[in-house]
Amino acid sequence: MTLFFGADYYPEQWPQSRWETDAKLMKEAGFNVVRLAEFAWSRLEPSDGCFDFSWLDQAVDLLTEQGLKVVLGTPSASVPPWLFHAHPDMAIVDEDGTTRTYGSRRDASPAHPAYCHYAVRIARHMAGHYAQHPHVIGWQVDNEFGDRCYSEASRRAFQVWLKNKYGTLENLNATWGSVFWSHLYTSWEHIPVPRKTTHAKHNPGLHYDYYCFQSELYTEFQQAQLEALREQVGFEHLITHNLMGFSYGNLDYFKLAAPLDFVSWDNYPSAFWREAVTANPAHIALGHSAMWGLKQQNFWVMEQQSGASGWHVMSPSPQPGQISLWAYQAIAHGADGIVFFRWRSYPKGAEQNWHGILDHHGQPGRRYHEVKKMGEQLGRLGPGIAGSLPEHQVAILHSYESRFSFQIQPDSPQFSYEAHVAAYYSALHRKNIPTALVSAPSDLTSYKLVLAPALRLVSEETVQHLGAYVRQGGVLVVTPRSGSRTMTNAIVETPLPGLLAELCGVTVEEYDALPSSMTRRLKFVGSESVVNSSLWSDVLAPTTAQILAVYDEGYVAGKPAITCNSVGQGRVIYIGAMGDGSFVQTIVDYVLSTVQVKPALKIPETPSVEVTERWQGEQQLIFVLNHGAESVTLPLEGSYLDLVSEEHLENHLTLDPYGVRILTQPPVAGLETRK
Ligand code: GAL
Repeated sequence: MTLFFGADYYPEQWPQSRWETDAKLMKEAGFNVVRLAEFAWSRLEPSDGCFDFSWLDQAVDLLTEQGLKVVLGTPSASVPPWLFHAHPDMAIVDEDGTTRTYGSRRDASPAHPAYCHYAVRIARHMAGHYAQHPHVIGWQVDNEFGDRCYSEASRRAFQVWLKNKYGTLENLNATWGSVFWSHLYTSWEHIPVPRKTTHAKHNPGLHYDYYCFQSELYTEFQQAQLEALREQVGFEHLITHNLMGFSYGNLDYFKLAAPLDFVSWDNYPSAFWREAVTANPAHIALGHSAMWGLKQQNFWVMEQQSGASGWHVMSPSPQPGQISLWAYQAIAHGADGIVFFRWRSYPKGAEQNWHGILDHHGQPGRRYHEVKKMGEQLGRLGPGIAGSLPEHQVAILHSYESRFSFQIQPDSPQFSYEAHVAAYYSALHRKNIPTALVSAPSDLTSYKLVLAPALRLVSEETVQHLGAYVRQGGVLVVTPRSGSRTMTNAIVETPLPGLLAELCGVTVEEYDALPSSMTRRLKFVGSESVVNSSLWSDVLAPTTAQILAVYDEGYVAGKPAITCNSVGQGRVIYIGAMGDGSFVQTIVDYVLSTVQVKPALKIPETPSVEVTERWQGEQQLIFVLNHGAESVTLPLEGSYLDLVSEEHLENHLTLDPYGVRILTQPPVAGLETRK
């Protein structure tokens, strides 16, 4: 197997006379792959039905002469002017009814039949043209699906979708509770899309269905292209889509990823819209863990940051060492492909300020030399790493259904599902416990600990599945709002946590959304330790569970806040409160003290240092990554070989600023045995 290493390249943006220089520089950097063409529709089909692949053929040939493999993007993320002009009603319409103007990308609605038709047509032509090319190895369908649309085409498609889902209007009205505010529908054509209303929000049943529908629309849009590609290339080429990590929550990525051969995503640790200088290692890792969990399978980073990011303003440039640190971090979490965005910064267009490996002038500089150094290292290490598997001991149940529901009603003005999940992930990450984000129906048997943070929409099947996991010895942690809604986004009519109540051995006697100024102290039973909660309080009434902590102030003083229920061989811990990072860390530290999980390497906890592991058969590869600008020296138990520097390490381990080590020991039977 090969570890893929390369860049996103846009030959259409440069004179042909430059292509060979680029190809040679790429080869010298140790690249073995390029992604091409995902925004080249107007060059590939300059007018309706006139296809021109000649320039791309030449670019592909020049690149492949240098030994590079090619991943081609289907170009549907950006429609050419002639197409939009012919069908202006394909425009995306916002929630407030504004029709977006052509001129950026993602301009067209996936509900529009003409857009779908033309997107599939060019995908089929491209695939037919390149099916036999020996160096084309894969396809990326479109790029970064997203943006909900509220257009006329979407409204019509939504009504058809609802008809298929509910069969009758009686059923739909009953499920949504349309009788509320007199919305009993008597015709499918009367059903609106949830654009801005005069007052409050739309019916949460309708709103939730719309979000599910929009998500499915993109999945179907992808499927149509996928089938066109498969017709031409069969399973000879691998097919993916470029996703947007954990931070994008408008598409059910589990469903989007299901038909793909592998997941790829774009990783911009210091994107200009974030706190750029302090790219947070746990947040970057969260993206990788979420993308790994979509198929519980290794992934690619199809766009890995390689320079300052920017549109109208810029992020700081990655510090020396940071580009390769972030790329190694991706590998540490299960990436088998690193493709840098972008090869060269383009002096024109909307992303003039987005920097690639080369600056606008095209001369190799600091960033090129850093990438080249990594290329040299991977030339040596890649074959040993490729295909090795990350090992996650803990899983977090990631639910797009719950995410959609919270987008409509977060319940507490301070609550964010993303932040809640991220807080639990970060607390585990701080302890270097490898954690995957998986869907509730996934096979959980290999995980020693499973967390269900705010798993709001819960089905009978999920309860059965989680029950089986716990009875066989699993430990499940459940947090507030879990089980509070049906799968159609209605509030359950039984005491919370609804369908999970029996498994948790507890009911919620009452709950309280706390104002931002308020905290509520909790006290652990049988100990003096206390911790401040905030944001939310569930006051618990145990049925079969034991009390682990009680509230220690206010009118709820003495009432249970955290409980633990023994079920079969396992346990369910219900955390009835929420809180800031230190609250979550306290909870996670407590839970970890009761389960058999451990980091891959025993070193003192150091905020900038991340440890994770991959296994190549019986051989453990321990990635130790310094996210800090200072070098770090840590005591080390045992002796290791660092594959990056080829040094033998004993007693202590020194990491350079943004330094990376990959430690291994010769496999010794019985010493490190896999689960
Ligand atoms: C990604 C996108 C790229 C490029 C990059 C920088 O999200 O896929 O095409 O736009 O961001 O903005």
